[in-house]
Amino acid sequence: MLRALEEIRRMRGGAQAHLMRCSDGHYYVVKFQNNPQHRRVLANEMLGTKLAARLGLPTVPVAVVEVGEELIRLTPDLAIELGRARIPCAAGLHFGSRYPGDPRRLTLHDFLPDELLLQVENMHDFAGMLVFDKWTCNTNGRQALFIRETPRAAYRTVMIDQGFCFNAGEWNFPDAPLRGLYARNRVYLGVTGMESFAPWLERMEKRIGERMLDEVSSEIPPEWYEDDHDALYRLLELLERRRDRVPDLLLDAKKSYRNPFPNWT
Ligand SMILES: Nc1ncnc2c1ncn2[C@@H]1O[C@H](COP(=O)(O)OP(=O)(O)OP(=O)(O)O)[C@@H](O)[C@H]1O
Ligand SMILES: [Mg+2]
Repeated sequence: MLRALEEIRRMRGGAQAHLMRCSDGHYYVVKFQNNPQHRRVLANEMLGTKLAARLGLPTVPVAVVEVGEELIRLTPDLAIELGRARIPCAAGLHFGSRYPGDPRRLTLHDFLPDELLLQVENMHDFAGMLVFDKWTCNTNGRQALFIRETPRAAYRTVMIDQGFCFNAGEWNFPDAPLRGLYARNRVYLGVTGMESFAPWLERMEKRIGERMLDEVSSEIPPEWYEDDHDALYRLLELLERRRDRVPDLLLDAKKSYRNPFPNWT
């Protein structure tokens, strides 16, 4: 089991995650079970990220990270802030999203200006990620990181924050045309029709099935969904069944007033 050894800093965002150095020598952005969003956000991150990876989308390795009581006691910053109240982060098993490198050297960007977005070498993956976000009904806008290994290298994007897939703690699918889209239409300039989504739609048909969903979900610590195995089972069943709705959901996005795919005519 991966253990957290040291807290580095607090991260931005509603889940109040912390960057932590872990026993495998890597750094992870850790979301705690008692985060202010929802306990199930951890389950969504684990399930969502692993499913996205199975579709061939760029993600980061994710893991269950154990945070011990002593580390929390010795680190006053490991607390959840709710208004004026401060509640210590719970000890136990939490969700870790691996920082893709050494945080002292590698600079990551949460956003890029439009001109630079066009230089992202795997920009087409935003179309693939939309297949995933429509399928899982991600009720947050798509979030991505941009990485450049050296100042001369091209930017590469990796997709993070699958916490609001399956409608966060609700585990239902309130589909809507603009849900799951990235904030900038520019990332969809390469989309010229339904065939632009074909590689990921095909993988969803071929690679996702009951056995595979069971396998992936068995890696989620049951306490992340309060041992409600029936709820998890229902979620997986709905997910499997709604795969063939994705093309229609993409069409609804295309027809929306936002016109996210200007080159799809
Ligand atoms: N694997 C990672 N590597 C590097 N940075 C990361 C990673 N995961 C998350 N981050 C950083 O931590 C911040 C918070 O992460 P994330 O968006 O997943 O959490 P959140 O609290 O759910 O945010 P939100 O307010 O968007 O719901 C992000 O803005 C991002 O910069
Ligand atoms: Mg976020």
